[in-house]
Amino acid sequence: MKLLLIGCGNLGRSLLQIFEKRKEEYEIVVVQPSLSARDLFPFAHFVDHVSRIPQGFNPEVAILAFKPQQMKDGLPRYASSLKSALVISFAAGMLVKTLDSYLGGHPRLLRVMPNVALKIGKSVNLTYGPKNFSEADRLLAEKVLNPTGALIWIEKEELIEALTPISACGPAYFFLLAEIMTQFTMELGLEEKLARSLVQETFLGSALLTVPTHDFKKMISSVASKGGVTEAALTVLQPKLSDLMRTAVNAALEKLKKIEQ
Ligand SMILES: NC(=O)c1ccc[n+]([C@@H]2O[C@H](COP(=O)([O-])OP(=O)(O)OC[C@H]3O[C@@H](n4cnc5c(N)ncnc54)[C@H](OP(=O)(O)O)[C@@H]3O)[C@@H](O)[C@H]2O)c1
Repeated sequence: MKLLLIGCGNLGRSLLQIFEKRKEEYEIVVVQPSLSARDLFPFAHFVDHVSRIPQGFNPEVAILAFKPQQMKDGLPRYASSLKSALVISFAAGMLVKTLDSYLGGHPRLLRVMPNVALKIGKSVNLTYGPKNFSEADRLLAEKVLNPTGALIWIEKEELIEALTPISACGPAYFFLLAEIMTQFTMELGLEEKLARSLVQETFLGSALLTVPTHDFKKMISSVASKGGVTEAALTVLQPKLSDLMRTAVNAALEKLKKIEQ
């Protein structure tokens, strides 16, 4: 499959690491102005400008992995190179209609909001395609993106923004909790390496336990018996944490609204 990757920073590199495992299935051209990632991915053909995309390279899929603020100037230059492509945009806060206008009208556009676990193929990819999005393009998108993690198809575009503070920011909330618990563990006298590993293993085991059921309430009661030690902690946590999370998620949403274009 011919694939054009536009931009090769943090996200582009993570994607190429995933595609590298299936490199025989792909012919990949990457546009990156500095070419700084070229030596890391010898299986891909790097160019530093849209004008140097090889003649006759008509991608079936193009991935937009450059910054939203670079799109207005940058994207129109790609319009003719993308005519044959399903265009998958990872740009945060950029609406399909905005991308469509920068490309002078492109009928096959898709938006994806991943999270950091994309690096290990465990991303939650919020995915939105407009109403006229074809089944063939849906299958094509799944073929390309499934190795990065689950595709969660969203019916309304505004839900991408609404859910971003949960699925895309969510890993950071988890890392914060892990960091706080590590600090407590160290205050109790454990040396740092052991403290970090104790917390990591606790969270890893807990996450794996939720896989078969997704029933978090049931999981809580499996740890917190009536009148017990865990219940004492949860009585303090539950009322405050819920309000705090709501306030935090709303703050993230407010910030997103400011960058939406
Ligand atoms: N990082 C994430 O985990 C993540 C998560 C969700 C969404 N996103 C979205 O993914 C996109 C990329 O984010 P990032 O974190 O990877 O950004 P980044 O690290 O800053 O990388 C941006 C890349 O775009 C390249 N670039 C700039 N202008 C270009 C142009 N006109 N044509 C082609 N390439 C161009 C840059 O080239 P140089 O390397 O030469 O400077 C760089 O490789 C953004 O739209 C962001 O909203 C990222």
